Amino acid sequence: MEKIQELSQIFKDIAVKDIHLLDKYSRDETEDLVFPPQLVLRPSKVEEVSAILRFCNQNKIPVTPSGARTGLSGGALAVHGGVVLSMEKFNRIIHIDEDNLQVTTEPGVITQVLQNAVQEKGLFYPPDPASKGSCFIGGNVAENSGGPKAVKYGVTADFVLNLEVVLPNGEIIWTGANVLKNATGYNLTQLMVGSEGTLGVITKIVLKLIPHPTHDLLMLVPFAKADEACKAVAEIFKAGITPSGLEFMERDALTWTLNFFPDAPVAVKDNHAAHLLIEVDGFQEDVLLQDCQKIVEVLQKFAIDDILFADNAAQKDALWSIRRKVGEAVKAHSIYKEEDTVVPRFRLPELLAGVKEIGERYGLQSVCYGHAGDGNLHVNIIKGSLSDEVWENDLPKAIKEIFELTVGLGGTISGEHGIGYVQKNFMKIAFTPVELELMRGIKQLFDPNNVLNPGKILT
Ligand code: LAC
Ligand code: ZN
Repeated sequence: MEKIQELSQIFKDIAVKDIHLLDKYSRDETEDLVFPPQLVLRPSKVEEVSAILRFCNQNKIPVTPSGARTGLSGGALAVHGGVVLSMEKFNRIIHIDEDNLQVTTEPGVITQVLQNAVQEKGLFYPPDPASKGSCFIGGNVAENSGGPKAVKYGVTADFVLNLEVVLPNGEIIWTGANVLKNATGYNLTQLMVGSEGTLGVITKIVLKLIPHPTHDLLMLVPFAKADEACKAVAEIFKAGITPSGLEFMERDALTWTLNFFPDAPVAVKDNHAAHLLIEVDGFQEDVLLQDCQKIVEVLQKFAIDDILFADNAAQKDALWSIRRKVGEAVKAHSIYKEEDTVVPRFRLPELLAGVKEIGERYGLQSVCYGHAGDGNLHVNIIKGSLSDEVWENDLPKAIKEIFELTVGLGGTISGEHGIGYVQKNFMKIAFTPVELELMRGIKQLFDPNNVLNPGKILT
């Protein structure tokens, strides 16, 4: 009997049998890529994960860990076939520790569900990827997800204290300790964060929490020039303010998204080239009002139109929903290619200008948006009416140039979406051969048979 059939027999109780269901495990949110696995298993216990990995390791069957499949770099795609190991049944929040401000959770909990559960206790887990309503916390750890709040509070990595992980050989380990300081040996916890399911399968997560801010203020600022919106970003920080969100949206990003929100309180006028969405949060409203005043003083140095101050919770929700939907709106508009560039914040205007210059040279339209406060610009290149030939021949060259520009500005080729399957050929732009060899050595140490999420990150 083929080994994969033997595996499906051993684990028949947790195997997905419905052929229609199997189809959804062939995709994530990455472009239009489809890679059907041979088998999908949905374990709910760490012992099952361990037994599956041990079997697959012994029999050299590829295993691709999978969460909610909201990723944008193809991390959950079974590009070498084999088994998709869906972590969706690991969906319990195990313990909210109100004494130590920590939560222990399984990886298949939806990020927003976790956020709401801790918020009920006055606590805050800030990292909030655009997909927070559907993505899993385990996927966030695997990809080191960011989101708008990262600008003030940090990314997923800044909140992970300790992880239970099953190694490719089936061994179960804890990577650290449930403490806020840890200078004990190599940092296995942080090695695992952002390793995109290539080193081990995460089965428990201990996260740091903070007190939940009680107030926030939000404003949407139209700019006549997109480069001025980018310039204003660093100026706001230089004025001594750290916003809890500082998002950039080019005109097309906002107008395409507004098609989904016909009743939104936002009017994009002819002279609006880009917008900044700026949020401040904290515990004292008067302090936040002063912060906003300082921000407005900075903004007045630039050509801006009337600022929209969201004056109730519904308006704030509407503005954030619009921002979170941009990716979906671009996807609905055209075939596109998504890049996740990041540069030191002050160099954002140069990045935007360079992206546009490269696009013009190749005849490629792009729509840019993202976490400007972090220098993290999502560059979406639009296929529109371009021929398949131009798209296939010129796009990789343009992307290479965009990444070279990004690295040349002191940045790197992914801020929060990961490398996965779709960016691995560009790793050599960001790292030297020596650095890449070290990474290969780490992968080899954890996964000598290359069974766990093969075909990702490294070529
Ligand atoms: C966002 C996702 C695409 O920022 O990262 O909307
Ligand atoms: Zn983003």
